[in-house]
Amino acid sequence: MSKVALITGASSGIGRELAKELAIRHYNLILVSRRRNVLEGLAEELRDKYGVNAWPIDHDLSDLSRINELVDRVRGLGIEVSILVNNAGAGLYGPLGELNDDDIVRIVSLNYLTPILLTKKFLPDLAKNKGCVVNVISLAAYISIPWFGIYTSSKAALANITDALRIELRPLGIRVIGVYPGYVRTNFHSNTIVTPTASRARDSPKGPVLDPGYVANKIAEKIDDPRFNGDIVPSITYRMAGVFLRILYPLVRYYVNSWFNKSIGRLA
Ligand SMILES: NC(=O)c1ccc[n+]([C@@H]2O[C@H](COP(=O)([O-])OP(=O)(O)OC[C@H]3O[C@@H](n4cnc5c(N)ncnc54)[C@H](OP(=O)(O)O)[C@@H]3O)[C@@H](O)[C@H]2O)c1
Repeated sequence: MSKVALITGASSGIGRELAKELAIRHYNLILVSRRRNVLEGLAEELRDKYGVNAWPIDHDLSDLSRINELVDRVRGLGIEVSILVNNAGAGLYGPLGELNDDDIVRIVSLNYLTPILLTKKFLPDLAKNKGCVVNVISLAAYISIPWFGIYTSSKAALANITDALRIELRPLGIRVIGVYPGYVRTNFHSNTIVTPTASRARDSPKGPVLDPGYVANKIAEKIDDPRFNGDIVPSITYRMAGVFLRILYPLVRYYVNSWFNKSIGRLA
């Protein structure tokens, strides 16, 4: 029987491409996000093209009170999860005073708390199948960015627990992979919630733009490698950037401070 991978945020971007990459490698797939019709279309494509099983589940992952409902729906399929990919995520950009309270709670839940709860709920399956958790984080976890701090801190927290769980779950035979993409061409940027002041200051992201298919291919290769239990930073340029951000963090903080004071900070 082929392994089953549950991918959150499977309807677009990195998650959608990863579903295809894993289908090519004969994984059956549980596809989770809010847009049912998009998931149904993808599930059909995966079944037709690759001959795998694919089950779409529409669910809002930013609502923590409904996590058990999702787990029950997966249980109702009568299958065990071997690979859990916590990929769904979203951004929030603007001065703290302008942010909507509900948006703050939802983004932190979606990016940080939901991955923890899902990992906990599926631990018995993951341990039984000597499975793997994949957390899609971001290189932004290494930088504190003013106006983007809800997002960057939620990813920093996810990075922290990813490292902790890698050590904690190893004795159970569960691998924990952290993925740190730089800028990837997806709907993430247009979907980021932006406050009125921040919308006047929006700049296009800096650095090379990665293709979501390329990122997904790198993730799938490591999921499929039973010896791999570590972090992935897709592309050599972003790997070097990641090392620079960590080693020279005081310099990075100085740069962010002067950039903020000279440019966007004046608008607040
Ligand atoms: N793109 C980048 O430059 C970049 C860089 C670093 C890290 N990342 C991370 O990569 C991950 C994937 O993002 P992406 O770039 O592929 O962006 P994307 O194309 O916007 O995909 C986001 C996915 O998350 C789902 N999603 C969003 N809110 C949800 C909710 N409340 N409940 C359930 N599903 C939800 C979306 O589906 P529905 O709309 O159907 O719900 C979609 O499938 C995110 O964690 C992001 O932080 C992205």
